[in-house]
Order: sequence, then structure tokens, then C-alpha cells
Amino acid sequence: MRAEKTGVTIPYPNTQPVPAIAAVTPPSGAARPRVTFLGTGYLGATYAICYAELGYEVLGYDVDADKIARLNGGEVPIHEPGLDELLRRNLAAGRLRFSTDIAETADFGDVHFICVGTPQRADGMGADLSYVEASVTSLAQHLTRKALIVGKSTVPVGTAEWVEQLVGKHTPADLGVEVAWSPEFLQEGFAVDDVLRPNRIVVGVKSEWANGMLYAAHKGVFDLAATEDREVPLVVTDFATAELVKVAANAFLATKISFINAMAEVCEAAGGDVTQLARSIGYDPRIGNRFLQAGLGFGGACLPKDIRAFQARAQELGAGEALRFLHEVDLINQRRRTRVVQLAADLLGRRSGPAGPDLSGTRIAVLGATFKPNTDDVRDAPALAVAALLGKAGADVHVFDPQGMENARRTVPELTYEACMNDAVRGADLVCVLTEWAEFRNADPVALGELVNGRKVVDGRNCLDSTLWTQAGWTYRGMGRP
Ligand code: UDX
Repeated sequence: MRAEKTGVTIPYPNTQPVPAIAAVTPPSGAARPRVTFLGTGYLGATYAICYAELGYEVLGYDVDADKIARLNGGEVPIHEPGLDELLRRNLAAGRLRFSTDIAETADFGDVHFICVGTPQRADGMGADLSYVEASVTSLAQHLTRKALIVGKSTVPVGTAEWVEQLVGKHTPADLGVEVAWSPEFLQEGFAVDDVLRPNRIVVGVKSEWANGMLYAAHKGVFDLAATEDREVPLVVTDFATAELVKVAANAFLATKISFINAMAEVCEAAGGDVTQLARSIGYDPRIGNRFLQAGLGFGGACLPKDIRAFQARAQELGAGEALRFLHEVDLINQRRRTRVVQLAADLLGRRSGPAGPDLSGTRIAVLGATFKPNTDDVRDAPALAVAALLGKAGADVHVFDPQGMENARRTVPELTYEACMNDAVRGADLVCVLTEWAEFRNADPVALGELVNGRKVVDGRNCLDSTLWTQAGWTYRGMGRP
């Protein structure tokens, strides 16, 4: 069933009938809903800027005055391709502004998107919901007319119901403030396109009014798709399913990566080549070739914490057994890090004792610190974790990353940070390529060979041309390769 060319409703597989999407007038009286984004971190800032680009009137709110001042001054606090230009253009057009004033935010918006962080709790694997609670409570306390509060943050299933209760506690019933949930699927490095051209929109709603309001708040996305002759599937569902979609998607992606890394372990033992294996199975369209890149494993602000929070929540719900495999997914992922240290020790001729290898007296160049290329994000970055492990094992570690230097230095200050790739590799006994930046993939092994002390390389992302490097006299070790 297709509601219209864009904004397709999908009654699949066998879902309840989708309510017809009724047109609703925004409570502010504006022609299109005025939207706010609470929390202007990676998620909220990207959404706020992109929604202004789609033509909405937007206000971004944060408690961090410094961040708000930078955004109002045209400076994006994160590295995300294309975002700076969109920020400046939409500030200039007058559609976008940022504020630390919650009363102003409450007064401005028809639809308020909650985009605050939900980090892993300090005391366990579950998600810390204190920022969700604080932002929803203060917003609710300042609302003076009907509005829709929409959760976007990744949360444990059941949070939307709890948010609804919070809102009920802090707003008079006659305002009729409603809650909905609409997960995001942004990938760092592609976030602008993921907002403007999403591959699906999922909304968890309880009423036709909320459904209509959310449709109006996504109309810009559907209209853009229509001009580009695309369709954006829209899935209208209940709160619990909408919340689960996000963690299920991330659990699947993490599992796919750990699956191929498990195959890498078997290849290492059996003398196979996981890159050929991945290529070969990936040609089967049921498997697909994406997210089958074996190497150092997954990191970042989402996959590792989301699979842990998902397990913790399933446990609380009495469904812990169903997700026990995610524990294994996590363990496989962590083992890739120690595997690189082991490969480094092998190449340097160091033996491992009970506490791991002793690498003292060696100099190692680490190329890459971010959790993947085209970002400056080092949160739970496998590359930086390995650099730290090598340092702890006694090596003199020299790190270079094209964008992540500042964050890396702040996170692991005890390593040496170099201004460029050549400075990092100069005099090294071993080079470890741990993030697949184009600059490293395209590096000339002959020229680098002139700078190092020993031509030994660990390719932690299987991103180098092993033939070229070997021909240039390097001893090459990949991940899951002979
Ligand atoms: C992820 C999800 O992709 C996104 O949909 C969700 O909204 C947030 O989490 P992101 O954290 O930006 O996005 O990174 P992603 O591109 O998914 O990569 C995650 C990690 O997996 C990176 O460390 C990457 O290097 C690693 N990875 C990815 C692999 O090791 N192998 C692969 O084949 C793919």
C-alpha cells in the first residue's frame, strides 16, 4: 500500500493497519511546524542544521553556553563533511538559531526533538538516562501550549512510556502535550546525507495527531525525495518497536562485523585469507558485501555502547538469553585489539609473557587514532586503544591522525603525537596502520621505506595493497590473512 509517491506507508510484514495520516495545524499557528532540537551534540547539531536546510524554522537548545555561542557564530563543534557550509548558509537565511534559554525553546517549538546523549552508565552496561530526564523535565515545565515531544536519542525500550509519564507529571493535562519516538540512523562522515536523504523514517506514535504532526515535521524530507525521484519508506509503529528498531539495527551491524572478524580468526589459524572469503560470500545478495570488512573491529560512540545497553535491558525484561550472543560479539571485537599487539610483538621478535609482550626499546608509528576515517571522533576508537596498549607494553609510540589529533591527545596524553605521517614513521621499527584514512591507503611504501628504521607493517584495517608494500621490501601482516 502506498499512501503517495513519497512518504510510503509499509504494512509489512503483516503489521496492524497504518492509520491514515491526517493533516494537522501546528499549535504555534505557523504554516509548517517549528522544530527544536534539545542537545546540540553530534546528533542534535546535525539535525538542526539540516532541518533548516530543508526549509523549517529551527531552534537548537543546549545547556553548554560555549557550544551554543560557537554554533551561533557559524562554527560547527564537530568534524562532519558539508555541515559548516550548511550552518553558515542557514544562519544567514534567518531560519536557524541556537539558545541556552529553555523558556524560549518551549515557546518557539511545535515539535521538540530530544537529541541528548545516553552514554553507558558508570556502574554497569545499561544506558544513563539522566540527560533525557533533565531535558524533558525542564522543557515540560516551560510549555504553555500543546506540543509534540519526540525522542531521537538511542534509549532502552520502555523509555518513551517513561518520558510520557514525566511529561504528564510536569505539564497541566489540559495542554495535551504528546510524546512520540523516531530513531535516527546517522553514520558519522555521512550524517548530512543521512538526515536529508534517509533510507527510512520510523515513527512510534499513539495518536493520529502525533502521526500527522510528525508527518508534517518530515514533509521536507519527503518533498526533497520527490524532486530527486526517490521514495523514503515510512514505518508507523508503536513506541516499543520504534525504540527497538535502532538498537536492533546496530546489533545486526555489530554482529556482521564480528562475524567476519571471527572468520578472520579462523583464517589466521587455517592459513586462509579473510578478504577473499568476505568478497566471495558478499556476492550472495542475501549476505551482501557491506560491513564485512575484517580488521580491528568496531568502535565509536554507538555500536559498542548500544549492544551493551541492549543486553542490559533485555536482561531486565527477562529476555537476556535472546541476546547472549551479543556478549560474544563484544568479545570477538575486543580480541582484535590484542591481536594487533600480538602481531606487533611477532614482527618485532618479542615474546609474550603472562602480562603480554615486552616492547620496551622499540619505536612504533601508529597511523590513525579515530574510530573510522573522515571523522575526528576517538570515542571507543580501536586505533587509539591499540596505541595505548602498545605504549603500556613499553613501546615508544608516535601517533598521527589527519583529524583526530586534538581529541586523541586529550584522551591518551601519554603518547607522542606527530604533525604529519612522515614525522610519525621516521625512525620507527614498526608501522601500524589502524584507521583506513585515504592518506594512509595511498601512501607510497617506497618513500616511507626510506624513513623507517625497519620495514615492518601491521595493516590493522586490511586497507593497504600488500603486493606493493611487499615489493617495496616491507614485511607485511594483515588481519586474517596469510
Ligand atoms: C553506526 C551506525 O552505522 C549508524 O547507523 C548508527 O546511527 C550509529 O552507529 P557510526 O558509529 O558512525 O554509525 O559508524 P559505522 O560506519 O557504522 O562504523 C562503526 C565501526 O565499525 C567503525 O569503527 C568501523 O571502522 C567499523 N567497521 C565498519 C568495521 O570494522 N568493518 C566494517 O565492515 C564496517
